[in-house]
Order: sequence, then C-alpha cells, then structure tokens
Amino acid sequence: NNHKSDSRGALIVLEGLDRSGKTLQSRKLISYLEGLSYSVESWRFPDRNTGVGQMISSYLANKSELDDHAIHLLFSANRWEKRFVSMSHALCYVLLLQRSLMENKLRCGTTLIVDRYSFSGVAFSSAKGLDIEWCKAPEMGLLAPDLVLYLDIPPEVICSIIKFVVEVKAPEMGLLAPDLVLYLDIPPEKAAERGGYGGERYEQLEFQRKVVRSYQILHDASWKTIDACLPIEDVEKQLQEVVLDCVTTCQKGKPLSQLWS
Ligand code: TMP
Repeated sequence: NNHKSDSRGALIVLEGLDRSGKTLQSRKLISYLEGLSYSVESWRFPDRNTGVGQMISSYLANKSELDDHAIHLLFSANRWEKRFVSMSHALCYVLLLQRSLMENKLRCGTTLIVDRYSFSGVAFSSAKGLDIEWCKAPEMGLLAPDLVLYLDIPPEVICSIIKFVVEVKAPEMGLLAPDLVLYLDIPPEKAAERGGYGGERYEQLEFQRKVVRSYQILHDASWKTIDACLPIEDVEKQLQEVVLDCVTTCQKGKPLSQLWS
C-alpha cells in the first residue's frame, strides 16, 4: 500500500563543538543500528577525500590561507558535491529520477548517520562574524537538473525512462533537512581538556565559545540536546533511544523536507 512505499531511512545529524564526541558516538550508533539489522551508513562533513575536501583540510591544518567567505563556500560545496553524478552513473541517475545520492539512499531504506552538516557550516562561519543569513544561503539555492539524458542507450529505454520520470513529483531542489539533529552539548572549557584538542584551526577556546552562541541560534524542534559530559555509555544509551524512535517514524513514511525551506 501507499504507506509502505513511503517507508525510508532516517537522516540523522550529529552536531557539537570540536571534541564533543560526535565521531565516537556516530560509530557506536552505526554498530547499534546494524545490530538491529537496519541498513545504515556513516557520512561526515567535511568529506576530506574529494578535491574540495583536500583544500578544506589544508586550510584547517593552517597550511593555507583563505578568505572567510571563500572557505565557507568550500564547506558548502563539499556538501553539494554529494549530488554530483559521473557520466558512468548518468543512466543510473536518470533511472533513479534525478535524486541526489543522499535522497536515494534514504528512499532505498538506508539510514544515514551524518557527523556534522550545514549547521556546522553556519555555526562556525557566523562565529567569525559573517552574517548568518548569508551563511545559510548557499545551503538552500541550487537547482537540480530536471533530467539528465545520457545518450548512449537504446531509444526505447529512453522512452520508457521519460514516461517513468513524468509520473513522479518534482525532484529535490535544495539540501535535505535532517529528521533529527543530535547536539552533543559540552562547555568549551571541558572540550579543551580532551585529548587531541588544539591541532586544527578552529580548536581555540574563545572561538568555540562563539560557536556555542551560533549553535544556540540554529536550534529548533528537530534538535535533541544530549549532555556530552556524561560517561560515554550514558551518552550512547540516550542517543540510541532517540535515534530508534526517529528511525521508526521514518519507516512509517514521514515525508522528506528541504533544509530551511
Ligand atoms: P571535523 O573535526 O568534524 O572534521 O571538522 C573540522 C572542522 O571544520 C571543525 O572545526 C568544524 C569545521 N566546519 C566548518 O567550519 N564548516 C562546516 O561546514 C563543517 C562541516 C565543519
């Protein structure tokens, strides 16, 4: 029935200051959901494996200098890159109705646990003094192509694809809004005491205090704040509870929506 065909994976984002425990807890959530036989994938931003990601990485390691606006746009581009479809995947892209990689995964029933997303983009750049609305803008605007026709396929296949495509709703336009944002709350002073702190550009106490204020502005009803100073196992338990609840709601067919639309 209709209800069942709308079943999908959940888009779950972990946010918080540097060293708040997001990466460790993401890993734990993945094993937890896998243990319950859910299809689940781990994503993270910045994705340092791409060309753009390498520029970001070099900037964060203080090996290169960039204008604050430029680095903000690179972080955003790094999220948009996930929409890119290579020629070898073009046919697949048409068949999958022009959805972004992210939307496809979700619609195929895979839950994504994403370590940082657009909220980090806005929180960190606005903490430098950039206008918050300007920071949000590149996360919303780009238009997806309505149709990519890769011509190296038999015409009868194209005809059946086009028929298929016109029957579906308009493709996704902006980045997707997460179903749940898990904010791992830690005072900047406490985060600074944790191992490995201070290695990258933004890991400075005074700056992280500003990031906290920016995160507070972005907070809305889809956010769940978890006390990241609790023992690791307690944080893990709390996360499991809200995540399971969210995954179940999405399985029942909660519609996808656009970020900040
Ligand atoms: P990471 O330690 O989670 O890999 O993140 C690297 C740093 O990049 C971290 O200090 C947060 C910052 N950041 C931004 O400034 N903008 C963004 O869009 C993202 C995803 C991260």
